[in-house]
Amino acid sequence: MQQASDMSEKVALVTGAASGLGRGTAVALATAGAKVCLVDLNEAGLQETATLVQALGVECLVRPADLSQKDNCEAVVAETVAAFGRLDALCNVAGVIFFNHSTDMTQVQWDTTMAVNLSAPFFLSQAAIPHLLEQHGAIVNVTSSASFMGEAYAAAYCATKAGLTNLTKAMAMEYMHKPIRINAVAPGGMVTNIVSSFMNMPKDLDGSLMQRFKPLRGTVEVDDVANLVAFMASDAARGYHGNCISIDNGITAG
Ligand SMILES: NC(=O)c1ccc[n+]([C@@H]2O[C@H](COP(=O)([O-])OP(=O)(O)OC[C@H]3O[C@@H](n4cnc5c(N)ncnc54)[C@H](O)[C@@H]3O)[C@@H](O)[C@H]2O)c1
Repeated sequence: MQQASDMSEKVALVTGAASGLGRGTAVALATAGAKVCLVDLNEAGLQETATLVQALGVECLVRPADLSQKDNCEAVVAETVAAFGRLDALCNVAGVIFFNHSTDMTQVQWDTTMAVNLSAPFFLSQAAIPHLLEQHGAIVNVTSSASFMGEAYAAAYCATKAGLTNLTKAMAMEYMHKPIRINAVAPGGMVTNIVSSFMNMPKDLDGSLMQRFKPLRGTVEVDDVANLVAFMASDAARGYHGNCISIDNGITAG
């Protein structure tokens, strides 16, 4: 896999940084030398990630925030720029999933999925773009194999991830002639905390339908996806704009 270029002097904001892919992305960016602002709901998890980043000799800012609120999206971008003086990369990694029959999905489940998975990347991008343009920076949105296939009992999640893929492309078109790159990475099949959502599913779901979106060749390493996100955030990915790169060990092959 291609590696992120040297990011020392650069600053990245990573959402979902308390665990899983967000933590891996923060560590990958810090390994490339970037200072990172770590954002998540989970403050304890953020502190653990900060310890890993600081062990690499890199500065970081820990910023607990509920990104389902637009004001918080704007505030974390402003605070990152105030702390470090610039912003070079925005990595939208935070996400949620609720498995349920569509007829039983609550409005809170629907609204939370929309707010975290789709609205937050948009509002964070709105706030970040003026700063990213100054630095010739990048946005990397984490979508999912669920962008490309219908996953039973995950209608809201699929809608947001497909929406985020096309949001990426639409914004890439809008900024075609400006100094910013906007891309997506679409993972599938990583073992992370989000898998614990499987524990809270109703018991009467048809498991045979859910087998369809598990990787037949085994799980995908979080670090492999994190390194891809960091690469896409770095100048080494200069040829990518409006692209959605899948990394799912064959889930979307057929
Ligand atoms: N694990 C997989 O197989 C898989 C597959 C495809 C896509 N993804 C995507 O990867 C991304 C990272 O997920 P993960 O697998 O690392 O799971 P994870 O649960 O470890 O990470 C998600 C993070 O998002 C944070 N978050 C949730 N709601 C938030 C809010 N309102 N404000 C701020 N932070 C919030 C959580 O606290 C958590 O730390 C998600 O966007 C997910 O949809 C994961």
